[in-house]
Amino acid sequence: MARIGAIPGNGVNRQCLTQEDIRARALLISWAKARGYQVLVDDIANLFIRRQGKDASAAPVLTGSHMDSQPAGGRFDGIYGVLAGLEALEALDDQGIRTRLPIEVVAWTNEEGGRFPPGAMGSAVFAGARRLEDCLDVTDPAGVRFADALRDTLNATAGLERRAFNRPLRAYIEAHIEQGPELEAKGLPIGVVTGIQGSRWFVVTVRGEGAHAGTTPLAARKDAVRSAVRMIAALEELMHDGDDRLRFTVGRVDVTPNSPNTVAEEATFSIDFRHPDAGALERKGDRIAEICARHAGPCDVSVVENFSRAPSVFAPALVETLEQAAEALDVGHQRMPSGAFHDANFLSEVCPTAMLFVPCERGVSHNPAENAKPEDLATGARVLTAALVELAGTDRIAFRPSSIK
Ligand code: GLV
Ligand code: MN
Ligand code: MN
Repeated sequence: MARIGAIPGNGVNRQCLTQEDIRARALLISWAKARGYQVLVDDIANLFIRRQGKDASAAPVLTGSHMDSQPAGGRFDGIYGVLAGLEALEALDDQGIRTRLPIEVVAWTNEEGGRFPPGAMGSAVFAGARRLEDCLDVTDPAGVRFADALRDTLNATAGLERRAFNRPLRAYIEAHIEQGPELEAKGLPIGVVTGIQGSRWFVVTVRGEGAHAGTTPLAARKDAVRSAVRMIAALEELMHDGDDRLRFTVGRVDVTPNSPNTVAEEATFSIDFRHPDAGALERKGDRIAEICARHAGPCDVSVVENFSRAPSVFAPALVETLEQAAEALDVGHQRMPSGAFHDANFLSEVCPTAMLFVPCERGVSHNPAENAKPEDLATGARVLTAALVELAGTDRIAFRPSSIK
């Protein structure tokens, strides 16, 4: 998988709904079909690989994550959870284990949101938290509409059966690399995730006037970059947090016409703001527009919030199931919250949801250098499999036989 969209430094650039994403989907589908699994797709191109259960009409247990990457992303963020899920299905086949409930592996569309903001679009639409129609006009930096890239991706898998959004699910478990340094530092192979901190995304557009850099007096300038820089500095002050719990990032700045000797006519920048406390997220987030307006100088400014998600709390029973799976396999684990957002965020609205983390090197992620140890990835896949079997039910093996219904 990592060969598709490989970039220097050992990473991948496999952004959502690109040719690389389409090739990755085709590879995943070929692996699934080689094992005889049914492959389905929904209207936002979320892919589902289904291993049938004895009770074919029962709500399935769902696992998976995303296949798209950041523009300069790593080999594990997202795709690990999809391949760990497929590995789990294959292991059940290899051991001749039938489960009562079907188990499905999902690859959600556009989790990253780097190309078509915001992230977690596929899972948000699936869960009914966002309407597909409201995603269609989002454009990428080259001006390509989400609707057109989606149509091309769906056409590339035209033979697949279509699936409705928001079907009943027994549970959702997502495996992911931690993307932080804690598990590695503590030498623990498994993090059992209890919830995800809240996030709000904004796009700030500053409109000035293009002018000659050598001749235009300062007083006559409407310099969009100068105003944007003042806004960002003021926002950094607002977001300062001595406890280092708040996360504030301006990760994307676009300047028009982006020429060294022209005063910028327009500057847009992104804001990614996260906090584990809903109150802090609301209080500070609600001040962003006013602070930008105050520092706009001679320019106009508009602030659009394009993503908002309160902190999620995962299902306690499922968190326990994951802990018991780790215990049964004699694997060290701890409970922890997630700083990154994940598709599990939106799934937690529609079914019992939890996640498991595996360590990654120095916590580096959203970076080509992202790395994880094969043995940790395998341990995560084993714990995931045990939990899936527990939830889907089987009369052959169980780590908690008494709980099998
Ligand atoms: C997911 O990629 C995130 O930004 O947390
Ligand atoms: Mn991810
Ligand atoms: Mn990511």
